[in-house]
Amino acid sequence: VSSNLERDEKLLEICKLLNKEISYYNWVGFYFANHDTKTLHLGPYVGAETDHTVIPFGKGICGQVAESNQNFVVRDVKTQDNYIACSFTVKSEIVIPLFVNGKNIGQIDIDSHEIDPFTEADERFLEFVNEEVAKLF
Ligand code: SME
Repeated sequence: VSSNLERDEKLLEICKLLNKEISYYNWVGFYFANHDTKTLHLGPYVGAETDHTVIPFGKGICGQVAESNQNFVVRDVKTQDNYIACSFTVKSEIVIPLFVNGKNIGQIDIDSHEIDPFTEADERFLEFVNEEVAKLF
């Protein structure tokens, strides 16, 4: 278990690496859940600055994943009513919950400027990333 600061540095490195190596991962960040206030809080991220640093459970793609505990792949954000737009350049999104000891403590969120770029390989890969991230907690 690492300190919060060390952990955040590692998470930021992961965000940078994913953003650099995978052309369609245009915004990469972590949100963490506060189960008392039922809100998600933005953690380390790379990409465009966002106003959405706090998201209530149930709101947007991220908020829905906080409640469903399931991967959410959005091929085209225009098809989603319950979606929080961060930037007009974003066309698609993938959110994978982060489990520590079986509890959904947050998620990795990736936005893409391409339509429908995410496959099952991205899901499996990001589940693996989150399993590694879980070891930091
Ligand atoms: N689009 C997300 C909000 C977070 S931003 O993508 C960084 C959503 O609908 O939950």
